[in-house]
Amino acid sequence: SKKISIAIDGPAAAGKSTVAKIIAEKLSYIYIDTGAMYRALTYKAIQESLDLECEEQLINTLQIIEIELKPSENGQLVFINQENITDKIRDQDVTSAVSIVAKHRKVREEMVRRQQNFAKNGGVVMDGRDIGTHVIPHAEVKIFLLASVDERALRRHEENTAKGYNSNLEKLKEEIALRDKLDSEREVAPLKKAVDAIEIDTTSLSIQEVVSRIMEIVEGKN
Ligand code: C5P
Repeated sequence: SKKISIAIDGPAAAGKSTVAKIIAEKLSYIYIDTGAMYRALTYKAIQESLDLECEEQLINTLQIIEIELKPSENGQLVFINQENITDKIRDQDVTSAVSIVAKHRKVREEMVRRQQNFAKNGGVVMDGRDIGTHVIPHAEVKIFLLASVDERALRRHEENTAKGYNSNLEKLKEEIALRDKLDSEREVAPLKKAVDAIEIDTTSLSIQEVVSRIMEIVEGKN
């Protein structure tokens, strides 16, 4: 069957990447985590003490870094200029700053250009905030994943605890709600459901149930 493009958008910690990885695996498609690209630039910007409000500094840095997403057994490895930053981009300082970096128009234009290049041959599952609205508006399948803030914070908390990381549920709720607010209210390509996206509220669904629903939608397109 023909290789299509699948866009998965939604608020922070809605399970997008978990589900996207499984779908990509089932279809032998490429999984592209666009959030990791914004996180990579944010990591670099913090490391170089850039002013995160300064679009010029950020774009100049972005232009000299290559961001690579490499498939691996547990999903995806992230590199900037050959340095493996897979774990570093999940740190709290990066998570708290990424929505500031991601609001700048020129930063988004360059990221979208790179993302469209990754997606140009189809056969991709891409997750983010503006995939169905801006990055691949022609995607055959568009999904918008939702869940309550409490549910999302709880899932992230359990994930952290299982990995042996320190985790504070109340702080997670605050961080997730703030990131959603910044991402939805920014001027350029805000987090928004595409008019033709199918909304799935995952609050009371298991990962497997969400995957099955999306696979049914994908099969309907083939
Ligand atoms: O998906 P993840 O939570 O890792 O994304 C981190 C941040 O990157 C988001 O909160 C948002 O600010 C930004 N982002 C974005 N557009 C995307 C993907 C992520 O603005 N397509």
